[in-house]
Amino acid sequence: MSGRGLILGIETSCDETAAAVVERGARTLSSVVSSQIATHARYGGVVPELASREHLRAIVPVVRAALAQAGVTLDDLDAIAVTSGPGLAGALLVGIAYAKALAFAQNLPLIAVNHLEGHIHAVLLNEREQREPPSGAKARVDSIAKAARLKSCPDTRPGALGLASETWDSTAPNLPFAQPAEPALALVVSGGHTHLYLARPAEGSWSYSLIGRTLDDAAGEAFDKVAKLLGFGYPGGPWIDALARFGNPLAVPFSFSQIKRKVHLGGKPPRTKAARTAPIADLDTRFLFSFSGIKTAVLRYVELHNLRPEAQARAARLFPAQIGHPELSHPEQSNMECHPERDEAGSKDLLLPARLPATREEALALCPQPILDLIASFQHAVVGDLMKKTFAAAESLGARSILITGGVAANGELRQRFTAEAARRGVRVAFPTLALSTDNAAMIAAAAWPRLLSGDFAPPELSADPSLALGR
Ligand code: KG4
Ligand code: ZN
Repeated sequence: MSGRGLILGIETSCDETAAAVVERGARTLSSVVSSQIATHARYGGVVPELASREHLRAIVPVVRAALAQAGVTLDDLDAIAVTSGPGLAGALLVGIAYAKALAFAQNLPLIAVNHLEGHIHAVLLNEREQREPPSGAKARVDSIAKAARLKSCPDTRPGALGLASETWDSTAPNLPFAQPAEPALALVVSGGHTHLYLARPAEGSWSYSLIGRTLDDAAGEAFDKVAKLLGFGYPGGPWIDALARFGNPLAVPFSFSQIKRKVHLGGKPPRTKAARTAPIADLDTRFLFSFSGIKTAVLRYVELHNLRPEAQARAARLFPAQIGHPELSHPEQSNMECHPERDEAGSKDLLLPARLPATREEALALCPQPILDLIASFQHAVVGDLMKKTFAAAESLGARSILITGGVAANGELRQRFTAEAARRGVRVAFPTLALSTDNAAMIAAAAWPRLLSGDFAPPELSADPSLALGR
């Protein structure tokens, strides 16, 4: 133990094996992410068994790299933090078993972190680093995050698609934001979640109240399914983001209908595990989301305009190694996932050689204008719905700042429109940097810091909780 407040964070809840060393929840010394995108891309989604296997392969080198890049040894650490849920059971267990063994061998406290709380702390970590940047730390964190992607696989994130630098600087849209004004409204918008929380500091830590959530698909899930339907690779969000700017966002008038309480609270119980565990009865229907309708609307549009053959041809050209081209994959059936609330589809046993991913230019050349208009309209509608409900909740609850986090928070249009609307309303809004928007372990180590201070340690029998909820 160094007494410096050094926490090693470990994250394996989905398809990224990540480790990071963070000092006192405020300074990222290293953040290493090994993505499994290349493994899963050929199936058009995450295959749980493969995810566990890849985590097993990557966990040791990733932790070693995180320690080496931080310039510390195991003996310098003060605690080990690990994601305990929500996520894929097998994937979570790899991280938990490894973290437990390390904590036991080093005689260090083990801290269990909720993945969703981790995403919220990604924003808080950024805020702390911006407030008190240690000399050169900002530049260093970004370069570490970039250099540390131990990927043997293609990077389909927005930056890699040549997108980020053109449209927004990952830190530029943030208004001056010395500290989140309380209470803060947090929108966690990722591949498995679209949840609104009211966050308040409480006894040195934070407390969270669930304000709203999706009743069916998460926003990122809708991005992934629509992208797959239109012949793009996994994950779909970066593809939609990269191509939407070339289309007319008002060409296809998608709309979100008002969610009515009786429709969702009566009748059949919710289908998914997460829906069973998370309360919706007490939530204001104005803050409930539903993205399965727009996904189906895109499907209908594709069928009505006979766009399937063209999507199949595009997928075959761009991703010849992918199994399950759009002809096989109705969006209701196709998603293999990181989140217990998503359906599972059986994987096929083909393992074809992956080729390098298509570039945005290659994809653009295969996209006629109506497809670009459809993509732009879809993204515009989803971002509009997220904005409408988030700002309504912020106003209704008197939130003084808004934190937006999770993989979809990397979306360029989302950042631009939220930032503009927040400025118009005089509300503060903050996003993590792009590297901290998607899954990483720095956010896990940062979220663990208040727990280290308060001695809130995990029991030796800690296990994975695939549908772990946050807040009440
Ligand atoms: O937070 P994350 O890395 O993992 C989960 O906890 O789910 O989020 C992954 C999700 C995927 O659905 C991916 O398509 C989406 O985030 N995503 C994006 C963008 N980058 C990632 N969605 C829209 N625009 C993006 N630029
Ligand atoms: Zn996540």
